[in-house]
Amino acid sequence: MSVTNSFPLSPDQVGGEGWGEGAAPPSSPASRKSEVYPPHPALSPIASDGGEASVTRGGTENHHRHIRSFVLRQGRFTPAQQRAFELHWARYGLDPRAPLDAPRVFGRRAPLVLEIGFGNGEQLLWAAQHETDKDFIGVEVHRPGVGRLMNALAEHNVDNVRLYNHDVVDVLEGAIAPGMLDEVRIYFPDPWPKKRQTKRRLIQPEFVAALATRVAVGGRLHLATDWADYAAQMREVMDNASGWRSLGGADGFIAQPAWRTQTHFEKRGRKLGHGVWDLLHERC
Ligand SMILES: C[S@@+](CC[C@H](N)C(=O)[O-])C[C@H]1O[C@@H](n2cnc3c(N)ncnc32)[C@H](O)[C@@H]1O
Repeated sequence: MSVTNSFPLSPDQVGGEGWGEGAAPPSSPASRKSEVYPPHPALSPIASDGGEASVTRGGTENHHRHIRSFVLRQGRFTPAQQRAFELHWARYGLDPRAPLDAPRVFGRRAPLVLEIGFGNGEQLLWAAQHETDKDFIGVEVHRPGVGRLMNALAEHNVDNVRLYNHDVVDVLEGAIAPGMLDEVRIYFPDPWPKKRQTKRRLIQPEFVAALATRVAVGGRLHLATDWADYAAQMREVMDNASGWRSLGGADGFIAQPAWRTQTHFEKRGRKLGHGVWDLLHERC
């Protein structure tokens, strides 16, 4: 099954207003410019600006187009973050075109956790340090965040984390085998709050169906958001998704579990007076 959300994409849907780690407010002109960082060689042939080709398992290109859940932005890419790619990408970076051989990469067999859109990576670092019996794959399109996390991982000599600097839709399709994952964590995905933008939200029926193919039966999907209306959408999508069973209470939500610390975007949301909603589902 293809994991690409193959919605038709019109030119005016590319590079619209968005939301992302380090993002300027949507009204800022800078927020509408596209990413200028050079692509890492491992990322070609998929364009670093979120170009339109995606990659199938085995590396053959296809040309499905999907509405992207992110807009890459200009932002500060510090010398330290740049250096992280030079010094640490060989250790932590993964190629989205190559099927992931987790036992070879991690040198052991352990439960495999995928965190999607880790931003600055503080949660991923924290989890890897506290759940040392698990191996972690992080996926993030925002290059400065990847650099920042690699520096932190190297500083703490953390070895149970590997990273993709890429769109997760392509990673799922190109690198992750069916049933390979034990957990997926998606914390504070871009809310795309305007009505005309909600089609960009990551949590959509097609996407959670794709995740279901990659998560082993008994595995889990943990979502969190600080947007009430996105929480309701997540609940509706998951309630109607086959292959997932809610582990939430009567209202569908759970209390914040011990394995999730406060992320950067959660802190920001709370400062704005937002609530926080966690959803936990089991693959059945
Ligand atoms: C609102 S931020 C949240 C970051 C972090 N989880 C937190 O809570 O602080 C959402 C992140 O998801 C990333 N993202 C959005 N769509 C993505 C995709 N399709 N593949 C990989 N990363 C994506 C964005 O670049 C952004 O850093």
